[in-house]
Amino acid sequence: MKMCENLDEALNRPVPTFLGDGLRRVTYQTERIDLRAEVVQHVFAAGVTEVPLPLEDLHHHIIPEYQIYPSRLSTNLTGTIPSLSRAYRDLVKHVAREVLGFDVVFEANPPMRFHFPVPMPNQFRSKDGILMAQHSDTLLGDYFEGINCWVPFTRCFGTCTLQCLPLSESISVLTKFVKDLDLDNASYRSGRERFFHKLYFDENLQQRVLLNCRPFEIDYGELLMFDPRIIHGTAENIESATRVSLDFRLVPLKAYDAIMRCFELNGEAPPEFAGMAKVKGAFYDERTAFQI
Ligand SMILES: [Fe+2]
Repeated sequence: MKMCENLDEALNRPVPTFLGDGLRRVTYQTERIDLRAEVVQHVFAAGVTEVPLPLEDLHHHIIPEYQIYPSRLSTNLTGTIPSLSRAYRDLVKHVAREVLGFDVVFEANPPMRFHFPVPMPNQFRSKDGILMAQHSDTLLGDYFEGINCWVPFTRCFGTCTLQCLPLSESISVLTKFVKDLDLDNASYRSGRERFFHKLYFDENLQQRVLLNCRPFEIDYGELLMFDPRIIHGTAENIESATRVSLDFRLVPLKAYDAIMRCFELNGEAPPEFAGMAKVKGAFYDERTAFQI
């Protein structure tokens, strides 16, 4: 049976114009969508600070148990205050209507991450002790037509921001990974652990990723949109700053409908993540951005 997506074509598809060279910085008005104020309230409501505090300085005020990776403050949005989820949906609406100009399907319950300046666990280290957590979300079953979004609530720089490879280098690395392991579509879509494994043991790949990975400097009020083929990851935060961020995924509605039609015609099951099918009403919200 023909699969809905040819892996080689998907890996080499042209970058959509709305993503520029694969990484696009977007701004929004924080007076209108004040996500950070909601996150500060989330921390306060969790009872770990006696007063609402600036997020950048949290590591000076919170007990070490809350800072160990993954922090107990990190949660998906439904695990926090409802006003934060509302602000997230306002941001999705803004991105669809004001930035992209077309409707999108959006992640229903995205993760918010607190990244304190503490050592990362050894499970993410290569045999030389280097932190290697880089990956592309397409290795987790994300659709190639999707859009990764990364929203900082603190000023992010150096080792406390997202580290990204350029798109062309990412495609080249992923293409070689597919060839070296002779992967088919299905094994690629659940290939993150195999990618990590190769990253830990293949010194050439390690060097290539480390040499080309760059921190994406970004501040509150900005959002990074990027092609899901981009290889990205967290570094060991050695800055004197806490990083708090939200990451979520969009799929242009037209592309989503075409993907679902093909699955239906082929009798293919949509991919899953954490037991949730990557469809509306499960991984994605049942409404589109234009319906909220
Ligand atoms: Fe990711």
